[in-house]
Amino acid sequence: MQPNDRAYRPLSTRRAGALTGRARVPGDKSISHRAFLFGGLAAGTTRIHGLLEGEDVLATGRAMAQMGARIVKQHDVYVVDGVGNGALLEPEGVLDFGNAGTGARLTMGLVGAYDFATTFVGDASLSRRPMARVLDPLRLIGTQVVARSGDRLPLSIHGPRVAAPIAYRVPMASAQVKSAVLLAGLNAPGMTTVIEPVATRDHTEKMLLGFGASLEVTTDAEGARHIALEGQGPLRAAGELTVPGDPSSAAFPLVATLITPGSEVVIENVLMNPTRTGLIDTLLEMGASIEIVNRRSEGGEDVADLHVRHSQLKGVTVPPERAPSMIDEYPVLAIAAAFAEGTTLMQGLDELRVKESDRLSAVAKGLEANGISHVEGHDSLSVTGTPDGRGLGGGRVTTHLDHRIAMSFLVLGMASETPVSIDDARMIATSFPEFETMMTDLGAVFEPAE
Ligand code: S3P
Repeated sequence: MQPNDRAYRPLSTRRAGALTGRARVPGDKSISHRAFLFGGLAAGTTRIHGLLEGEDVLATGRAMAQMGARIVKQHDVYVVDGVGNGALLEPEGVLDFGNAGTGARLTMGLVGAYDFATTFVGDASLSRRPMARVLDPLRLIGTQVVARSGDRLPLSIHGPRVAAPIAYRVPMASAQVKSAVLLAGLNAPGMTTVIEPVATRDHTEKMLLGFGASLEVTTDAEGARHIALEGQGPLRAAGELTVPGDPSSAAFPLVATLITPGSEVVIENVLMNPTRTGLIDTLLEMGASIEIVNRRSEGGEDVADLHVRHSQLKGVTVPPERAPSMIDEYPVLAIAAAFAEGTTLMQGLDELRVKESDRLSAVAKGLEANGISHVEGHDSLSVTGTPDGRGLGGGRVTTHLDHRIAMSFLVLGMASETPVSIDDARMIATSFPEFETMMTDLGAVFEPAE
């Protein structure tokens, strides 16, 4: 990387008429990380189609290669030869996860039950994020941790000679924590159980089953999910694995179309797993015109195309229990709410404070800078909209190394009265490298900013 590549890249968007056409969003980030992790671990060859080639996912691929997996790209397919469960190699160098919380936390779980040392590093954003949520259960299985105070990166872990299988109740709604404990359980003798009081995205459970793990999910009388995994069993390569389009990336062209007058766009091949569709449910309640068409099954998941038309939205109250199924979509929902009639209230947002940035604060400051009426609570946000976008925009938004803050406010500028600029567009490449070209093809206009 040249020193100049590290320079900030300010960018702006402005109103430029209707968005029209068809768009195909890149592969789902959560599933892509897991495809590299499980493909790299399972014995045999997994061929991954539709992988998200974002920086976050590629960092996970590099980490798996450092631990013995062979990963080559043949045309559009990633071919992964895995080491076999229990047979990861001690990495020689540090594992650098860049901006990627999912990659770092899931890999910590994966190596947490190995009797070798692994060092994790990341960028300024990842180095601020809490890792105790994963390190605490790992300590229970016998993992040693050397970390800065507050359990932040850079840090090293060393697993025990024989890991203890645990039963662990996840204290916050987090698929990453659930997954880290399950992945540690893969290399622990006996049964590891994760109890999940609030259901979160279920890709780890579904994909581990697809890779032949011995895993059972039950639900108790209180509605908590119990995921029981028999450790040290074989994992078999998945053969052909297809990654569906990412609903969290689809959220940006979706909201841009809804708020830009005259727009009509079809977004193809979007993952419709119900643990991920909270934004679509919410937008439908707000009166959005979203037709879910061509429903089909792809690689064990439901996918569909979304036929979206500009809509007059109205404010709604989003129930807190919906948060896990749309946790990454609140920043762009706040932009949709800025164009709705009335007030949209979002609650149960405490986890937003520990994402790539403190997203609640970053969204509130971005709304402030663009003249959007809002109230930031400690775990809530309410936004009062201006249906035609009159008077909105004109602000410069600080993105704090957060791709979703960057894309959300660029979407705002596509429909607000005056242009919107962001301080830095570089992080968009972590999850959606095609964002600018795809939106340009639909009719959006980006300009370099000061
Ligand atoms: C993810 C889980 C979520 C989400 C993240 C991806 C995953 O994080 O925000 O973008 O792939 O497991 P938490 O588990 O911290 O809620």
